Amino acid sequence: MKQKKYTSIDKRLITEGSNIDFNLFLSNETKNAMTLFLQSDSAVDGNTKVKLREIEMLYVDEEDESRYKAYVKRHLQSIAQNSDIPTEQKGRLVYEKAAEAIDAMFKNPESLENVKRAQPVVNSFIDIILQDLNAVESLLKITAHDFYTHTHSINVSIYTLSLGSFLGIAGKDLETLGMAAILHDLGKSKVDYDIINKNGKLTDEEFDHMKKHPSLGYDIAVKLGISDQRILTGIRHHHERMEGGGYPDNLKKDQISEFARIIGVCDVFDALSTKRSYKDPMSSFESLRLMKQQMSGHLDMNMVDAFIKMLQKQGEHTS
Ligand SMILES: [Fe+2]
Repeated sequence: MKQKKYTSIDKRLITEGSNIDFNLFLSNETKNAMTLFLQSDSAVDGNTKVKLREIEMLYVDEEDESRYKAYVKRHLQSIAQNSDIPTEQKGRLVYEKAAEAIDAMFKNPESLENVKRAQPVVNSFIDIILQDLNAVESLLKITAHDFYTHTHSINVSIYTLSLGSFLGIAGKDLETLGMAAILHDLGKSKVDYDIINKNGKLTDEEFDHMKKHPSLGYDIAVKLGISDQRILTGIRHHHERMEGGGYPDNLKKDQISEFARIIGVCDVFDALSTKRSYKDPMSSFESLRLMKQQMSGHLDMNMVDAFIKMLQKQGEHTS
């Protein structure tokens, strides 16, 4: 008989009040065998949670692994709210889901279903950020250091949510801000792949194409029925400049919405501090210095100052 393979799982991810559709096993060391702990189609009640406290390791058999993974995804938000699970582990789970959601969104941006998948991701990031004062750092450790539109969208969402929360934006408003951030570059799904991933500086013509992404993203969002002006302007105006001369609408100062100004700062910071094929990454310190000293015509300096304070606060808790 073929021997079954088992994978150990983190018992903290088994959420009280949920139903499992896979068998959970314990390892019986004395007999060197697995014993059934909780059968598939059972409810995880308070009693189970009490028993789980006594247990070191839980296992699922290999046939059930994909069902277990799907279960974790379904319960992502309660996992994100669980303060017993380390931020980095939660971050990894949410990141995986975020990457999938963004992937689907960029492949088929016309699907409202796909865009809606981003909301639980945003909400899970918020839960993690509100719980852990060092969350930004822990979350960014997980994301890749190379620049991809996907990674960039996730990084910008993490920075934006932290900065927004630092500025006192909360509840549904923070959820909306997170959606604006995760969608800010959606228009890049309509820009030529070779331009997006070019190994080096863009030609003028290529840059003209690239510059269309904020209005392309706005058009997609409007077509999808998104009507919240804060999301729409966040997408359309994240490349506007405080003194004018930005694109696509050549706005100035407070003509640029608060959400667009917040996203603008986080977007530039991530672009500077991540590695590109044609440039090395700048350190956070260098990136902030450049933003502070050379970008006062471009970025809202009140937001830059708040961003620096937010990052400093994170640093204080880490050291
Ligand atoms: Fe952009």
